Amino acid sequence: MNIQHAVSLKPYNTFGIDVSAELFCEVSGTDELAAVLKQNQGAAKSLLIIGGGSNLLLTKDFKGLVIKNSIKGIQVIHEEEDYVLVRAGAGESWHQFVLYCIEHKLAGVENLSLIPGNVGAGPMQNIGAYGVELKDVFQELEAIRISDLQQKTFRKEECNFGYRESVFKKELKGQYIITSVTFKLTKKPVFNTRYGAIETELQRMGVKELSIKAISDAVIHIRQSKLPDPAVLGNSGSFFKNPEISIQQYEAVKAAHPGLVAYPAGEGQMKIAAGWLIEQCGWKGKRVGNAGSHKDQALVLVNYGGATGQEIYALALEIQRSVQEKFGITIEPEVNVI
Ligand code: EPU
Repeated sequence: MNIQHAVSLKPYNTFGIDVSAELFCEVSGTDELAAVLKQNQGAAKSLLIIGGGSNLLLTKDFKGLVIKNSIKGIQVIHEEEDYVLVRAGAGESWHQFVLYCIEHKLAGVENLSLIPGNVGAGPMQNIGAYGVELKDVFQELEAIRISDLQQKTFRKEECNFGYRESVFKKELKGQYIITSVTFKLTKKPVFNTRYGAIETELQRMGVKELSIKAISDAVIHIRQSKLPDPAVLGNSGSFFKNPEISIQQYEAVKAAHPGLVAYPAGEGQMKIAAGWLIEQCGWKGKRVGNAGSHKDQALVLVNYGGATGQEIYALALEIQRSVQEKFGITIEPEVNVI
């Protein structure tokens, strides 16, 4: 175990924010993680667990211990005629895991290609894109409880998955560290091209016969064409969640703003495209100091270089305020602000 002092977190968050951790340790196995946690129990330092650092806005130096979860490994743990259970270490890159599945002809995660971050962060916020969510392929996960180092298996029902939500962001927030996730992938793909942009992209690519590889390629193209690459321009994907409002409120807003983009979301609710709301408030492509709203997808806030977390957060609050003022709708961050 190698605990370092005063380490810059810039390489560990996709916004590229340069704050420091008082203490920092990278772990590559469950035993090592348990040992670090045990040692920290005595010191009673605040903890921050980082995976791919792609859903995180760091606004100040972290006084405490930052643990970078780099637990690796992908293995098939069970196989049936039509499905396979694959376990992946929490520290595996999500997209590398998706590529593994495609290479092994295992279907279910192709629509989730190129989502930044690591496997362990997937269940935390039930990552989703292009009509598929992690919960659709989730079998179970292993986690370690910080207070007493107990290991626990969580089955799907125990995770309370919702839209960008899980028990790990709510009731059990800050209590467990996910060490591995097991997925149920199918050998007989059920293609999901419902999401309009995928069909269009498949046509553009001239795909004659659908395959999980073709869908993955289409998703990769779509994402690359409108979402900035964090390696080039610091960002954390969608900064806000798409808000859900009642049908009554939706109808009132729609009457005043006929262009409103929305989708049905459960009983009596509508999900509103936050990107549209933000664009209508004039933020799309706008730069304030070193921070801004991206030119191709207003929901994504970016660091043009050298932005502080405070600067990006201040911009987020201003955007939130203007959406509230214009539409009477509250948009909440999807990203964890620390
Ligand atoms: N829109 C605008 N202006 C914008 C952006 C969007 O008018 O600047 C409108 C358009 O009408 C567009 C609609 O909003 O058709 C939806 O936009 P998009 O397809 O980009 O999807 P999104 O709802 O903005 C969500 C996820 C993304 C995911 C995409 C595709 C959330 C918070 N975001 O974005 O996830 O990739 O759907 O499925 O749910 C992420 O979570 O980091 C993320 C990138």
